[in-house]
Amino acid sequence: MERSKIAALINSAQPIDKILVKGWVRTRRDAKSFSFIEINDGSCLSNIQVIADDDLPDYDQVRKLTTGSAVAVTGELVASKGGGQRWEIRADEFTVFSLAPESYPLQKKRHSDEFLRSMAHLRPRTNKYGAAFRIRSELSFAVHQFFRERGFRYIHTPIITGSDCEGAGELFRITTLDLMNVPQRDRAVDYAKDFFATEANLTVSGQLSAEMFALSLGDVYTFGPTFRAENSNTRRHAAEFWMIEPEMAFCDLNGNMDLGEAFIKASVRFIIENCQEDLNLFARFVDKTLMTTLENIVRSDFERLPYCEAVAILEHAKKKFEYPVHFGSDLQTEHERYLTEKHFKKPVIVYAYPKSIKPFYMRMNDDNETVAAMDVLVPSIGELIGGSQREERLEVLENRMDEMGLPKEPYWWYLESRRYGTVEHSGFGLGFERLLMLVTGIRNIRDVIPFPRTPGSIDF
Ligand code: 4AD
Ligand code: MG
Repeated sequence: MERSKIAALINSAQPIDKILVKGWVRTRRDAKSFSFIEINDGSCLSNIQVIADDDLPDYDQVRKLTTGSAVAVTGELVASKGGGQRWEIRADEFTVFSLAPESYPLQKKRHSDEFLRSMAHLRPRTNKYGAAFRIRSELSFAVHQFFRERGFRYIHTPIITGSDCEGAGELFRITTLDLMNVPQRDRAVDYAKDFFATEANLTVSGQLSAEMFALSLGDVYTFGPTFRAENSNTRRHAAEFWMIEPEMAFCDLNGNMDLGEAFIKASVRFIIENCQEDLNLFARFVDKTLMTTLENIVRSDFERLPYCEAVAILEHAKKKFEYPVHFGSDLQTEHERYLTEKHFKKPVIVYAYPKSIKPFYMRMNDDNETVAAMDVLVPSIGELIGGSQREERLEVLENRMDEMGLPKEPYWWYLESRRYGTVEHSGFGLGFERLLMLVTGIRNIRDVIPFPRTPGSIDF
């Protein structure tokens, strides 16, 4: 007999004579001549309640069931007499796959997020993390759906690269050299002897590759793992995260902002419409203001303002910031959050940043001081999107690279795209985990990634 999933059973339109359910015991309560067992199979937040009478052949086994044990039950799906659930199972056969010993760490009580991080292998069995990772799965699907509906093509950009797109030097090196005996030449590492015969690293962004495909297929996007060796232990940075990067030919900064705003709204709407049960858990137990925040995002027009105006607002703010702001300084999380949470009370798109704090590929504005960059800031997170219109003019791009001291040789292929049929184009990067934090109200990036990688931590 094929097993039924609890997600389907709890929505059943009628009773069912015979079903088979497999899952893990959450709780067992015994009455005089029967037991109640709550089973969860991960297909949804809800458990299904099973009634096991003492005349079952294996009833003495049922009496031994502990939290975390794995079981199979066959029986009848009947209307529940008790409150709280519509259907329950009257068992006629119980199979115990494995009894969890008393040492099972997830006994029925509230555990702290910190404790559960040390149990990353078991935490998806809890209500909260089960819900978080089901939402993560749904949201991944929503990403592809959003772009596909708009005619974007999905590009798999390389994970091992030879370039540093962001120029921030936060690279994880890839090498097969013997670290105990590194070949040297002119008192430097001789990368010619390494696997790729040159330096290689894990990608910090698929953008440069995505640009080549936007300039061929039109509208494209990437959605994949991204790596940054940023040694900052914050609640919104991870060393390995997933980034969504659309790139559009024949599109300027305004079109880029429109897409970013539409994408965030569509993602939030998708989760509200498709993940009600799981979302409700977060709205009740994790962030009481979650639904207000989400509805506000869907409803509002994102504020759009140039960086210099954002700086003026921050300079005049009554709030004391840890880091001072002035024209030319990078906005810190505290500044970003002030703008979106306190000042505008909705998502904010800051654009036209000083060139000095942005990478080489962003399009120079006519003032020769600022570039066509944009960051989308959202409540409780700060920067969710970073993007720009790209510098499509070969000469301007080369001058900018010289100014920044970037070698042009490794970027020869990138520069060729400006030589052959160059056009205006734009794109952005959105941190998938930050989007998940936004829709769930989860405050720490470590709690929306199955097995987080952060400085000093790579267990599991
Ligand atoms: O602003 P960033 O650095 O932009 C780029 O990498 C561009 N090349 C993207 C593009 O235009 N195609 O990163 C984009 C987003 C950030 O806004 C943030 O949401 C996320 O990626 N991000 C991180 N998320 C988690 N952990 C980290 N260490 C992150 N670094 C960036
Ligand atoms: Mg950024």
